[in-house]
Amino acid sequence: MLVQLIYASVVADSSAAAVDTILAQGRRHNEERGITGVLCHGYGVFLQAIEGERAAVNQTYAQVLRDARHRDAQLLYFGEICERNFSNWWLGQVRLEKLSPPFVLKYVERLPLTPGQLCGTSARAMVLDLVATAAVAHR
Ligand SMILES: Cc1cc2nc3c(=O)[nH]c(=O)nc-3n(C[C@H](O)[C@H](O)[C@H](O)COP(=O)(O)O)c2cc1C
Repeated sequence: MLVQLIYASVVADSSAAAVDTILAQGRRHNEERGITGVLCHGYGVFLQAIEGERAAVNQTYAQVLRDARHRDAQLLYFGEICERNFSNWWLGQVRLEKLSPPFVLKYVERLPLTPGQLCGTSARAMVLDLVATAAVAHR
């Protein structure tokens, strides 16, 4: 059974090197576990979507929650899915600061984006919009 999970958290180390390490680790593990997903980062926020087999998604999220490279993670969405939305990426990335303010404003009450104000439905709509508008990069 496929499930999808989306959370937002506060970045502890926003250096490019730190984010690159997270992406490299995530891609390696996710491929091993058959997980696909996207990591959005910027404005001090991580917004991540992962999908795959339920136990693998739970295991990955449990590991991610214990990671000191971010904090205050909030689970925004968890649900069963019939098909993957991120099958192109073991862990794609989106730089939130490159998005136009009107794009982000579609999904939040006010700018800048903060984890607390994102509701699950909007977070999912935003990530799906990122996929549809080709804003997800492999690197
Ligand atoms: C914001 C964030 C997102 C992460 N995403 C993933 C992920 O998608 N998959 C994954 O396996 N690890 C991810 N990690 C890393 C895990 O928390 C953990 O450090 C890693 O799986 C352990 O790798 P290791 O066993 O090679 O040390 C993420 C970490 C952070 C801070």
